[in-house]
Amino acid sequence: MNPRLSDNNPWSESFVERAKRVLALNDQGDFTKPSPKLYPHQWNWDSAFIALGLAQFNLERAEKEILSLLEGQWRDGMLPQIIYRGPKEGYFPGPKQWEIKSAAHAPQGISTSGITQPPVVTVAAYEVVKKGGDLFALQVYPKLLHYHRWLHKMRDPYGDGLVAIIHPWESGLDNSPRWIEPLMNVEITSPLHYERLDNIDVPSAQRPTQADYDRFVFLMYKARNLRYDQHKIFSDFPFLIQDVAFNAILYRADECLTKLAELVNAPDDELREIQGWLGTTRKAFQNRLWDQTSGLYLDYDLNRKTMISQNTIAALIPLYAGLPDKQQAKILVEKHLLNPDEYAADGQYTHFLIPTTSKNNSYYDPVGYWRGPIWANTNWLIIEGLRRYPDYRGLADQIQWETLNLLNREEFHEYFDPTTGKGLGTDNFSWSAALALVLLSEK
Ligand code: GLC
Repeated sequence: MNPRLSDNNPWSESFVERAKRVLALNDQGDFTKPSPKLYPHQWNWDSAFIALGLAQFNLERAEKEILSLLEGQWRDGMLPQIIYRGPKEGYFPGPKQWEIKSAAHAPQGISTSGITQPPVVTVAAYEVVKKGGDLFALQVYPKLLHYHRWLHKMRDPYGDGLVAIIHPWESGLDNSPRWIEPLMNVEITSPLHYERLDNIDVPSAQRPTQADYDRFVFLMYKARNLRYDQHKIFSDFPFLIQDVAFNAILYRADECLTKLAELVNAPDDELREIQGWLGTTRKAFQNRLWDQTSGLYLDYDLNRKTMISQNTIAALIPLYAGLPDKQQAKILVEKHLLNPDEYAADGQYTHFLIPTTSKNNSYYDPVGYWRGPIWANTNWLIIEGLRRYPDYRGLADQIQWETLNLLNREEFHEYFDPTTGKGLGTDNFSWSAALALVLLSEK
Protein backbone atom coordinates (compact mmCIF):
# COMPACT_ATOMS: atom_id res chain seq x y z
CA MET A 1 0.00 0.00 0.00
CA ASN A 2 1.31 3.44 -0.80
CA PRO A 3 1.99 5.69 2.16
CA ARG A 4 -0.16 8.76 2.71
CA LEU A 5 1.10 12.25 3.19
CA SER A 6 0.52 13.39 6.73
CA ASP A 7 -3.17 14.21 7.16
CA ASN A 8 -2.77 16.81 9.82
CA ASN A 9 -0.55 19.35 8.10
CA PRO A 10 -1.83 22.89 7.77
CA TRP A 11 -0.95 23.21 4.07
CA SER A 12 -3.66 23.22 1.51
CA GLU A 13 -4.31 20.12 -0.52
CA SER A 14 -3.42 22.10 -3.61
CA PHE A 15 0.17 22.52 -2.38
CA VAL A 16 0.58 18.74 -2.38
CA GLU A 17 -1.17 18.48 -5.73
CA ARG A 18 1.01 21.21 -7.24
CA ALA A 19 4.16 19.44 -6.06
CA LYS A 20 2.98 16.16 -7.51
CA ARG A 21 2.13 17.94 -10.74
CA VAL A 22 5.73 19.13 -11.13
CA LEU A 23 6.94 15.55 -10.76
CA ALA A 24 4.32 14.38 -13.25
CA LEU A 25 5.32 17.12 -15.68
CA ASN A 26 8.96 15.99 -15.62
CA ASP A 27 8.15 12.26 -15.47
CA GLN A 28 9.64 10.41 -18.43
CA GLY A 29 8.29 6.97 -17.56
CA ASP A 30 11.25 5.35 -15.80
CA PHE A 31 13.05 8.47 -14.70
CA THR A 32 12.25 12.09 -13.92
CA LYS A 33 14.16 14.94 -15.47
CA PRO A 34 15.21 17.73 -13.08
CA SER A 35 13.27 20.39 -15.00
CA PRO A 36 11.36 20.71 -18.26
CA LYS A 37 13.97 22.54 -20.37
CA LEU A 38 17.28 23.31 -18.68
CA TYR A 39 18.00 19.71 -17.56
CA PRO A 40 16.50 17.23 -20.05
CA HIS A 41 18.32 14.04 -18.90
CA GLN A 42 18.64 11.96 -15.71
CA TRP A 43 20.86 13.28 -12.94
CA ASN A 44 22.23 11.15 -10.12
CA TRP A 45 21.41 12.97 -6.89
CA ASP A 46 18.34 14.61 -8.46
CA SER A 47 16.85 11.15 -9.02
CA ALA A 48 17.63 10.28 -5.40
CA PHE A 49 15.81 13.36 -4.06
CA ILE A 50 12.99 12.71 -6.51
CA ALA A 51 12.70 9.09 -5.33
CA LEU A 52 12.41 10.34 -1.75
CA GLY A 53 9.47 12.50 -2.85
CA LEU A 54 7.86 9.77 -4.96
CA ALA A 55 8.15 7.36 -2.02
CA GLN A 56 5.62 9.52 -0.17
CA PHE A 57 2.82 8.53 -2.52
CA ASN A 58 3.94 6.01 -5.13
CA LEU A 59 6.48 3.44 -3.96
CA GLU A 60 6.57 1.55 -7.20
CA ARG A 61 7.48 4.68 -9.16
CA ALA A 62 10.13 5.54 -6.54
CA GLU A 63 11.68 2.11 -7.04
CA LYS A 64 11.69 2.64 -10.80
CA GLU A 65 13.46 5.98 -10.40
CA ILE A 66 16.28 4.32 -8.46
CA LEU A 67 16.50 1.27 -10.71
CA SER A 68 16.76 3.42 -13.81
CA LEU A 69 19.56 5.39 -12.21
CA LEU A 70 21.42 2.18 -11.36
CA GLU A 71 21.19 1.14 -15.02
CA GLY A 72 23.87 3.71 -15.75
CA GLN A 73 26.37 2.10 -13.38
CA TRP A 74 29.85 1.64 -14.79
CA ARG A 75 31.45 -1.80 -14.66
CA ASP A 76 33.90 -0.62 -12.02
CA GLY A 77 30.99 0.51 -9.81
CA MET A 78 30.85 4.23 -10.53
CA LEU A 79 27.38 5.73 -10.67
CA PRO A 80 27.49 8.60 -13.14
CA GLN A 81 26.33 12.15 -12.55
CA ILE A 82 24.26 12.21 -15.76
CA ILE A 83 22.60 9.49 -17.83
CA TYR A 84 21.77 10.88 -21.25
CA ARG A 85 18.21 9.76 -21.85
CA GLY A 86 16.73 12.93 -23.34
CA PRO A 87 17.10 14.49 -26.80
CA LYS A 88 20.42 13.82 -28.55
CA GLU A 89 21.17 17.50 -29.12
CA GLY A 90 20.56 20.59 -27.05
CA TYR A 91 22.47 19.93 -23.83
CA PHE A 92 26.07 20.84 -23.18
CA PRO A 93 28.13 18.88 -22.27
CA GLY A 94 26.66 15.87 -24.03
CA PRO A 95 27.89 12.34 -24.74
CA LYS A 96 30.14 13.62 -27.54
CA GLN A 97 32.12 15.73 -25.11
CA TRP A 98 32.47 13.01 -22.45
CA GLU A 99 33.30 10.28 -24.98
CA ILE A 100 33.11 7.55 -22.35
CA LYS A 101 33.67 4.79 -24.88
CA SER A 102 37.39 5.38 -24.41
CA ALA A 103 37.11 4.19 -20.78
CA ALA A 104 37.82 0.56 -19.93
CA HIS A 105 34.90 0.35 -17.48
CA ALA A 106 32.19 2.35 -19.22
CA PRO A 107 28.80 0.65 -19.44
CA GLN A 108 27.57 -0.79 -22.74
CA GLY A 109 24.62 0.64 -24.59
CA ILE A 110 23.94 3.62 -22.36
CA SER A 111 25.36 7.14 -22.55
CA THR A 112 26.58 8.80 -19.39
CA SER A 113 28.96 11.45 -18.17
CA GLY A 114 32.31 10.32 -16.73
CA ILE A 115 32.07 11.61 -13.15
CA THR A 116 29.79 11.00 -10.17
CA GLN A 117 27.68 13.00 -7.67
CA PRO A 118 26.93 12.74 -3.90
CA PRO A 119 25.53 9.25 -3.12
CA VAL A 120 22.11 10.27 -1.81
CA VAL A 121 20.77 7.31 -3.81
CA THR A 122 21.61 4.89 -0.99
CA VAL A 123 19.67 7.00 1.50
CA ALA A 124 16.72 7.07 -0.90
CA ALA A 125 16.91 3.32 -1.51
CA TYR A 126 16.86 2.65 2.22
CA GLU A 127 13.84 4.94 2.70
CA VAL A 128 12.00 3.06 -0.03
CA VAL A 129 12.90 -0.28 1.57
CA LYS A 130 11.69 0.97 4.97
CA LYS A 131 8.33 1.77 3.45
CA GLY A 132 7.86 -1.78 2.37
CA GLY A 133 10.18 -3.10 -0.27
CA ASP A 134 12.29 -5.97 1.12
CA LEU A 135 12.57 -7.45 -2.32
CA PHE A 136 13.79 -4.11 -3.52
CA ALA A 137 16.62 -4.31 -0.96
CA LEU A 138 17.80 -7.55 -2.56
CA GLN A 139 17.69 -5.91 -5.97
CA VAL A 140 19.65 -2.80 -5.15
CA TYR A 141 22.05 -3.77 -2.37
CA PRO A 142 24.74 -5.42 -4.56
CA LYS A 143 24.82 -2.44 -6.90
CA LEU A 144 24.98 0.08 -4.09
CA LEU A 145 27.77 -1.89 -2.40
CA HIS A 146 29.65 -1.91 -5.71
CA TYR A 147 29.25 1.88 -5.92
CA HIS A 148 30.38 2.50 -2.35
CA ARG A 149 33.41 0.23 -2.87
CA TRP A 150 34.34 2.25 -5.95
CA LEU A 151 34.06 5.47 -3.95
CA HIS A 152 36.10 4.23 -1.01
CA LYS A 153 38.76 2.47 -3.07
CA MET A 154 39.15 4.53 -6.22
CA ARG A 155 38.59 7.92 -4.67
CA ASP A 156 40.47 7.23 -1.45
CA PRO A 157 43.42 5.19 -2.67
CA TYR A 158 45.60 6.02 0.33
CA GLY A 159 42.97 5.05 2.91
CA ASP A 160 42.49 8.55 4.35
CA GLY A 161 38.86 7.77 5.20
CA LEU A 162 37.78 10.63 2.91
CA VAL A 163 36.98 10.36 -0.77
CA ALA A 164 38.09 13.02 -3.23
CA ILE A 165 36.07 14.69 -5.94
CA ILE A 166 37.79 15.55 -9.22
CA HIS A 167 35.35 18.13 -10.58
CA PRO A 168 33.11 20.81 -9.02
CA TRP A 169 30.16 19.13 -10.77
CA GLU A 170 30.77 16.06 -8.62
CA SER A 171 29.99 18.11 -5.52
CA GLY A 172 26.49 18.95 -6.77
CA LEU A 173 27.16 22.47 -5.43
CA ASP A 174 28.87 23.28 -8.72
CA ASN A 175 29.65 26.92 -8.30
CA SER A 176 30.32 27.09 -4.57
CA PRO A 177 32.90 29.71 -3.46
CA ARG A 178 34.84 26.73 -2.08
CA TRP A 179 36.00 25.94 -5.61
CA ILE A 180 37.27 29.42 -6.49
CA GLU A 181 40.80 29.02 -5.16
CA PRO A 182 41.31 25.43 -6.30
CA LEU A 183 40.07 26.44 -9.77
CA MET A 184 42.56 29.31 -9.90
CA ASN A 185 45.20 26.60 -9.73
CA VAL A 186 43.82 24.91 -12.80
CA GLU A 187 45.86 26.10 -15.71
CA ILE A 188 44.13 25.75 -19.06
CA THR A 189 46.82 24.19 -21.21
CA SER A 190 44.91 23.36 -24.38
CA PRO A 191 42.36 25.31 -26.44
CA LEU A 192 38.71 24.67 -25.56
CA HIS A 193 36.23 24.75 -28.38
CA TYR A 194 32.72 24.71 -27.03
CA GLU A 195 29.51 26.63 -26.79
CA ARG A 196 27.71 26.69 -23.46
CA LEU A 197 23.93 26.38 -23.43
CA ASP A 198 23.18 26.79 -19.73
CA ASN A 199 22.70 30.55 -19.84
CA ILE A 200 20.17 30.81 -22.64
CA ASP A 201 17.00 30.36 -20.59
CA VAL A 202 18.41 31.62 -17.28
CA PRO A 203 20.06 35.06 -16.88
CA SER A 204 23.87 34.88 -16.97
CA ALA A 205 24.14 36.62 -13.59
CA GLN A 206 22.52 33.52 -12.08
CA ARG A 207 24.94 31.11 -13.79
CA PRO A 208 28.70 30.42 -13.42
CA THR A 209 31.13 32.96 -14.91
CA GLN A 210 32.89 32.23 -18.19
CA ALA A 211 36.29 31.78 -16.49
CA ASP A 212 34.84 29.17 -14.13
CA TYR A 213 32.95 27.44 -16.90
CA ASP A 214 36.15 27.20 -18.98
CA ARG A 215 37.77 25.39 -16.09
CA PHE A 216 34.79 23.05 -15.70
CA VAL A 217 35.16 22.13 -19.36
CA PHE A 218 38.94 21.80 -19.15
CA LEU A 219 38.67 19.38 -16.20
CA MET A 220 36.12 17.34 -18.12
CA TYR A 221 38.46 17.04 -21.14
CA LYS A 222 41.37 16.23 -18.87
CA ALA A 223 39.52 13.28 -17.26
CA ARG A 224 38.46 12.13 -20.71
CA ASN A 225 42.05 12.27 -21.99
CA LEU A 226 43.04 10.01 -19.10
CA ARG A 227 40.21 7.68 -20.18
CA TYR A 228 38.66 8.00 -16.75
CA ASP A 229 41.42 5.80 -15.33
CA GLN A 230 41.11 6.61 -11.63
CA HIS A 231 44.69 5.53 -10.86
CA LYS A 232 46.06 7.96 -13.44
CA ILE A 233 43.69 10.67 -12.30
CA PHE A 234 44.83 10.28 -8.74
CA SER A 235 48.50 10.44 -9.61
CA ASP A 236 48.21 13.84 -11.31
CA PHE A 237 45.03 15.86 -11.59
CA PRO A 238 44.62 19.61 -11.12
CA PHE A 239 41.48 19.30 -8.97
CA LEU A 240 41.46 16.78 -6.10
CA ILE A 241 39.38 17.83 -3.14
CA GLN A 242 38.11 16.01 -0.07
CA ASP A 243 34.73 17.70 -0.08
CA VAL A 244 33.17 17.99 3.36
CA ALA A 245 29.55 17.77 2.15
CA PHE A 246 30.15 14.87 -0.24
CA ASN A 247 31.91 12.91 2.51
CA ALA A 248 29.21 13.65 5.08
CA ILE A 249 26.55 12.42 2.64
CA LEU A 250 28.66 9.33 1.95
CA TYR A 251 28.89 8.68 5.69
CA ARG A 252 25.11 8.83 6.02
CA ALA A 253 24.82 6.63 2.91
CA ASP A 254 27.26 4.12 4.46
CA GLU A 255 25.02 4.02 7.54
CA CYS A 256 22.05 3.21 5.29
CA LEU A 257 24.13 0.62 3.43
CA THR A 258 24.83 -1.13 6.76
CA LYS A 259 21.10 -1.34 7.38
CA LEU A 260 20.49 -2.70 3.89
CA ALA A 261 23.31 -5.24 4.38
CA GLU A 262 21.64 -6.45 7.58
CA LEU A 263 18.25 -6.69 5.89
CA VAL A 264 19.55 -8.85 3.07
CA ASN A 265 21.65 -10.99 5.44
CA ALA A 266 24.89 -9.98 3.78
CA PRO A 267 28.00 -11.93 4.80
CA ASP A 268 29.77 -10.71 7.96
CA ASP A 269 32.86 -9.59 6.09
CA GLU A 270 30.75 -7.18 4.01
CA LEU A 271 29.21 -5.71 7.14
CA ARG A 272 32.64 -5.34 8.68
CA GLU A 273 33.91 -3.67 5.53
CA ILE A 274 31.16 -1.03 5.66
CA GLN A 275 31.60 -0.52 9.39
CA GLY A 276 35.32 -0.09 8.75
CA TRP A 277 34.58 2.78 6.34
CA LEU A 278 32.36 4.42 8.93
CA GLY A 279 35.10 4.21 11.57
CA THR A 280 37.88 5.69 9.43
CA THR A 281 35.66 8.42 8.04
CA ARG A 282 34.55 9.48 11.50
CA LYS A 283 38.19 9.82 12.60
CA ALA A 284 39.16 11.70 9.46
CA PHE A 285 36.38 14.22 9.98
CA GLN A 286 37.81 15.03 13.39
CA ASN A 287 41.46 14.96 12.40
CA ARG A 288 41.44 16.53 8.98
CA LEU A 289 38.24 18.44 8.30
CA TRP A 290 37.36 20.07 11.61
CA ASP A 291 38.88 23.54 11.89
CA GLN A 292 39.13 24.44 15.55
CA THR A 293 39.86 28.11 14.88
CA SER A 294 36.78 28.90 12.84
CA GLY A 295 34.59 26.20 14.37
CA LEU A 296 33.68 24.93 10.90
CA TYR A 297 34.23 21.77 8.88
CA LEU A 298 36.31 22.69 5.84
CA ASP A 299 37.25 20.89 2.63
CA TYR A 300 40.78 19.69 2.13
CA ASP A 301 42.67 20.40 -1.11
CA LEU A 302 44.93 17.41 -1.76
CA ASN A 303 47.06 19.26 -4.33
CA ARG A 304 47.80 22.33 -2.26
CA LYS A 305 47.73 20.33 0.99
CA THR A 306 45.58 22.87 2.70
CA MET A 307 42.09 23.43 4.04
CA ILE A 308 39.79 25.60 1.96
CA SER A 309 38.76 28.45 4.25
CA GLN A 310 35.34 29.35 2.90
CA ASN A 311 32.35 29.68 5.16
CA THR A 312 29.52 28.04 3.20
CA ILE A 313 26.61 25.76 4.00
CA ALA A 314 28.84 22.75 3.26
CA ALA A 315 30.57 23.40 6.59
CA LEU A 316 27.30 22.59 8.37
CA ILE A 317 26.34 19.50 6.35
CA PRO A 318 28.29 17.07 8.61
CA LEU A 319 25.28 17.53 10.95
CA TYR A 320 23.36 15.43 8.43
CA ALA A 321 25.66 12.53 9.24
CA GLY A 322 25.68 13.14 12.98
CA LEU A 323 29.47 13.55 12.74
CA PRO A 324 29.85 16.61 15.02
CA ASP A 325 29.85 15.77 18.72
CA LYS A 326 27.55 17.73 21.01
CA GLN A 327 30.06 20.56 21.47
CA GLN A 328 30.87 20.84 17.77
CA ALA A 329 27.18 20.83 16.91
CA LYS A 330 26.67 23.66 19.39
CA ILE A 331 29.39 25.69 17.69
CA LEU A 332 28.01 25.03 14.20
CA VAL A 333 24.49 25.96 15.22
CA GLU A 334 24.99 28.74 17.74
CA LYS A 335 28.07 30.45 16.36
CA HIS A 336 27.20 30.07 12.68
CA LEU A 337 23.71 28.91 11.70
CA LEU A 338 21.95 31.21 14.18
CA ASN A 339 24.31 34.11 13.59
CA PRO A 340 22.55 36.91 11.62
CA ASP A 341 25.90 37.97 10.11
CA GLU A 342 26.28 34.50 8.63
CA TYR A 343 23.16 32.40 7.99
CA ALA A 344 20.26 33.51 10.17
CA ALA A 345 17.71 36.01 8.88
CA ASP A 346 18.52 39.49 10.17
CA GLY A 347 15.18 41.03 9.23
CA GLN A 348 16.87 43.63 7.04
CA TYR A 349 19.28 42.14 4.60
CA THR A 350 17.90 38.60 4.61
CA HIS A 351 14.50 37.26 5.58
CA PHE A 352 14.73 33.65 4.49
CA LEU A 353 16.68 30.54 5.52
CA ILE A 354 19.26 29.13 4.78
CA PRO A 355 21.63 30.94 2.39
CA THR A 356 24.12 28.54 0.78
CA THR A 357 27.01 30.89 1.50
CA SER A 358 27.61 32.85 4.68
CA LYS A 359 26.57 36.48 4.29
CA ASN A 360 29.93 37.69 5.58
CA ASN A 361 31.80 35.68 2.95
CA SER A 362 33.15 38.14 0.35
CA TYR A 363 31.80 35.91 -2.42
CA TYR A 364 28.26 35.97 -1.02
CA ASP A 365 25.79 36.84 -3.77
CA PRO A 366 22.04 36.48 -3.09
CA VAL A 367 21.31 35.61 -6.73
CA GLY A 368 24.59 33.90 -7.66
CA TYR A 369 24.45 30.21 -8.47
CA TRP A 370 25.38 28.30 -5.24
CA ARG A 371 26.91 31.52 -3.91
CA GLY A 372 24.04 32.56 -1.63
CA PRO A 373 20.58 31.48 -2.80
CA ILE A 374 18.56 29.00 -0.76
CA TRP A 375 18.14 25.52 -2.22
CA ALA A 376 15.56 22.98 -1.03
CA ASN A 377 18.07 20.15 -0.89
CA THR A 378 20.62 21.92 1.32
CA ASN A 379 17.82 23.04 3.64
CA TRP A 380 16.58 19.47 3.82
CA LEU A 381 20.08 18.16 4.64
CA ILE A 382 20.38 20.64 7.51
CA ILE A 383 16.86 19.94 8.82
CA GLU A 384 17.55 16.21 8.83
CA GLY A 385 20.88 16.86 10.52
CA LEU A 386 19.43 19.04 13.27
CA ARG A 387 16.89 16.29 14.02
CA ARG A 388 19.78 14.04 15.08
CA TYR A 389 20.46 16.40 18.00
CA PRO A 390 17.69 16.52 20.65
CA ASP A 391 18.53 20.16 21.51
CA TYR A 392 17.92 21.31 17.95
CA ARG A 393 14.71 19.50 17.04
CA GLY A 394 12.71 22.68 17.57
CA LEU A 395 15.03 24.55 15.24
CA ALA A 396 14.65 21.78 12.66
CA ASP A 397 10.86 22.20 12.83
CA GLN A 398 11.20 25.94 12.36
CA ILE A 399 13.41 25.61 9.28
CA GLN A 400 11.10 22.92 7.93
CA TRP A 401 8.17 25.32 8.32
CA GLU A 402 10.00 28.19 6.65
CA THR A 403 11.20 26.04 3.78
CA LEU A 404 7.66 24.85 3.10
CA ASN A 405 6.37 28.40 3.22
CA LEU A 406 8.93 29.49 0.66
CA LEU A 407 8.21 26.56 -1.67
CA ASN A 408 4.48 27.12 -1.32
CA ARG A 409 4.73 30.80 -2.06
CA GLU A 410 7.29 30.85 -4.83
CA GLU A 411 6.36 27.61 -6.52
CA PHE A 412 9.03 25.03 -7.12
CA HIS A 413 11.90 27.07 -8.41
CA GLU A 414 15.45 25.79 -8.54
CA TYR A 415 16.73 28.25 -5.90
CA PHE A 416 15.60 31.35 -4.00
CA ASP A 417 16.93 34.78 -3.13
CA PRO A 418 17.44 34.96 0.69
CA THR A 419 16.68 38.70 0.68
CA THR A 420 13.38 38.72 -1.20
CA GLY A 421 12.49 35.03 -1.25
CA LYS A 422 12.05 35.34 -5.02
CA GLY A 423 12.38 32.11 -7.01
CA LEU A 424 15.43 31.97 -9.28
CA GLY A 425 16.97 29.70 -11.92
CA THR A 426 14.64 27.35 -13.70
CA ASP A 427 11.05 26.70 -12.57
CA ASN A 428 9.13 23.44 -12.14
CA PHE A 429 12.28 22.01 -10.60
CA SER A 430 11.75 18.39 -9.59
CA TRP A 431 13.77 18.14 -6.38
CA SER A 432 12.13 21.30 -4.96
CA ALA A 433 8.75 19.61 -5.45
CA ALA A 434 9.96 16.21 -4.24
CA LEU A 435 11.49 17.59 -1.07
CA ALA A 436 8.36 19.65 -0.39
CA LEU A 437 6.48 16.33 -0.35
CA VAL A 438 9.07 14.85 2.01
CA LEU A 439 8.91 17.83 4.35
CA LEU A 440 5.11 17.80 4.25
CA SER A 441 5.04 14.18 5.29
CA GLU A 442 7.19 14.78 8.39
CA LYS A 443 5.22 15.73 11.43
C1 GLC B 1 23.08 21.71 -11.52
C2 GLC B 1 23.25 21.54 -10.00
C3 GLC B 1 23.39 20.05 -9.68
C4 GLC B 1 22.17 19.31 -10.24
C5 GLC B 1 21.97 19.60 -11.73
C6 GLC B 1 20.65 19.08 -12.26
O1 GLC B 1 24.19 21.28 -12.21
O2 GLC B 1 24.35 22.24 -9.54
O3 GLC B 1 23.48 19.85 -8.30
O4 GLC B 1 22.32 17.95 -10.03
O5 GLC B 1 21.97 20.98 -11.96
O6 GLC B 1 19.59 19.58 -11.52
